[in-house]
Amino acid sequence: MIAGNWKMYKTQADTRAFFAAFLPLVSDALHCDIVVAPPFTSIPAAVEAVKGSNVAISGQNLFWQKEGAFTGEVSAGMLAEAGCQFVIIGHSERRQYFGETDGSVAQKTRAALADGLVPIVCVGEMLAEREEGRTQEVLSQQFIGGPGALTPEEFSRILLAYEPVWAIGTGRTATPEIASAAHGFLRRCASDQFSDELAAGIRILYGGSVKPDNIQGLMAQQELDGALVGGASLDTKSFAAIVNCN
Ligand code: PGA
Repeated sequence: MIAGNWKMYKTQADTRAFFAAFLPLVSDALHCDIVVAPPFTSIPAAVEAVKGSNVAISGQNLFWQKEGAFTGEVSAGMLAEAGCQFVIIGHSERRQYFGETDGSVAQKTRAALADGLVPIVCVGEMLAEREEGRTQEVLSQQFIGGPGALTPEEFSRILLAYEPVWAIGTGRTATPEIASAAHGFLRRCASDQFSDELAAGIRILYGGSVKPDNIQGLMAQQELDGALVGGASLDTKSFAAIVNCN
């Protein structure tokens, strides 16, 4: 899977213009699932634009309640009704700036699954944690408190994204070897918590400064099942080059 996370970029007009140029560039790409996560207000324009194409639309976040007095929040059902098939959960920017925790990640993931969305659950260590040699400890903690808190059946329906915080938006990509080691570790966490079968089946995306010039090396790693792309997904040509890399 190649998924684009647009973050807080692109109006509805930008979204329509993006897909008019992007869809013809990826119409032959059958080797991977293609997903784009626009900001909430641009979701309807995106859903309309990708109708009948090989691209699916994702939310970037949700709140776990179905409805209620929760100013500024959007539910899983609302995203599904708007035409989303996926939702990103626990992105490091949500953890860093909006106080999300492993516990809220688990609740949001369950809510997404209950409304038929496929959650893309993000984990990843910060630079200081890596430098202190605590990467595995942090990943294991995020895994156990978040996706590891699901039932095996729930876990079988999610995707994971390994996004080292030091590589996000910094131009400093993890080497294929570093990414592969982290993916392998997450798979071991899944195997310890659930089973070898579920661990082998889960798709783990890598995210953090993925670009057309480094996608090939990353995807050559057996452990990497795709990519979650931020900055490079905003440009039609660079995102298409990433999708068409194989
Ligand atoms: P980036 O963002 O590709 O701009 O580093 C990745 C992400 O945050 O998902």
